[in-house]
Amino acid sequence: MLSFTLLVLAIAPAVIRALDNGLGQTPPMGWNSWNHYTCDINETVILSNAKAMEEAGLLELGYNYIVMDDCWSKRERDPETGEIVPDPEKFPHGIESMIEEIHNMGFKFGMYSSAGKYTCAGYPGSLDHEEIDAKKFADWKIDYLKYDNCFNQGRSGTPLISYKRYEAMSEALNKTGRPIFYALCQWGEDQVWNWASTVANSWRITGDIYDSFNRYDIRCPCETYDCPSLQGYHCSIMNIVNKAAPLVQKTGPNSGWSDMDMLEIGNGGMTYDEYITHFTMWAVLKSPIFLGNDVSNMTPDHLELVSNPDVIAVHQDVSAPANRMWKKPFGDGYVHLFSGSLSNGDWVVAVINEANVPLVEMSILFSDIFIDNRDNTKFVWNIKDLWTKETTTAARHLTADVAPHGTQVWRLQKATHNSYNYYWVGHNPN
Ligand code: GLA
Repeated sequence: MLSFTLLVLAIAPAVIRALDNGLGQTPPMGWNSWNHYTCDINETVILSNAKAMEEAGLLELGYNYIVMDDCWSKRERDPETGEIVPDPEKFPHGIESMIEEIHNMGFKFGMYSSAGKYTCAGYPGSLDHEEIDAKKFADWKIDYLKYDNCFNQGRSGTPLISYKRYEAMSEALNKTGRPIFYALCQWGEDQVWNWASTVANSWRITGDIYDSFNRYDIRCPCETYDCPSLQGYHCSIMNIVNKAAPLVQKTGPNSGWSDMDMLEIGNGGMTYDEYITHFTMWAVLKSPIFLGNDVSNMTPDHLELVSNPDVIAVHQDVSAPANRMWKKPFGDGYVHLFSGSLSNGDWVVAVINEANVPLVEMSILFSDIFIDNRDNTKFVWNIKDLWTKETTTAARHLTADVAPHGTQVWRLQKATHNSYNYYWVGHNPN
């Protein structure tokens, strides 16, 4: 009996899950059309941004997905074939030829649809058309699918109902045999973080971002991740950071990534220091990083900001995201401490100053940074500030100096010697 069971197991086909499509070992990077262009897209917009990404050296830095968001198709499916039809006015040379050009530049191509009757802008969605659409997308050689949540016909409200709706596209994509990164855009409804990793590579955890540091907006009504119904839109970056912080425990290289939404850097609503916080936190919390601006009109300082190789190295490190160790009142706001280990034994530490006043020489204790790794508190660490590039050494604590709304981030590397002996000689460690 046992050998029969083993034989059956040996010849049973392997169950393929989206998680096993081999993609997303690190969070994806690229560009998406929505935040800057909304529905105003066409072949020229997509291709010129891809070209600008390449020329700016961003492809080389790892920004390798070009994602076309909503509004790319005609308003109706083809009445004979039932397929979604690209808008011939926006794409006069056809979608396939555009995708080929993007592939020839060295990028991967991302497509958009919705697990609803319509997309959010009212174009045909893929609900109950999963197989026919997935097949078409694979024929066009897409590499990524952003899958939205609008017009879902009430098929939400419990995790299982939402799961089934998103699982259908996951299976349809797998059936095509083409590896396609599957990015849920379900806004954090129905506790998506608890079930998405079995069907997808990433999952949005909030309503739509807007280009503001922390301005309250009633259209994004929830302050915490566990919002029962309306995630809304116009969510500031600090609203999103606060929601993402507890959810990183559900993400990592073997499950998938919490998507904090596309970036606003370069769209003009935040100061340079606020954009530093935006970029640093998306990297440290390992969100997918998709630029959402007009790349051909990017200022040199914004380009330099999103090109920081040290911050990108943290983002692309094959390790789990950093954890928030504390959030304390400071000035008229808060200070947040994040800390996480990297795959080579280094650590990343980030301090956000959410207040309107500068934070000066605040001691960040090793005992807080290494809360689960007490032994590390005994070492001297070589530290590098990933924005100023200054290097020094530190024992027992770091010293934070952070501009209003800015973020200081360091990479810590254990110095070769253990400080325990010389440091504590003559001191009582307690
Ligand atoms: C939703 C998504 C956005 C964008 C728009 C397109 O709001 O959350 O990211 O894709 O739809 O209509």
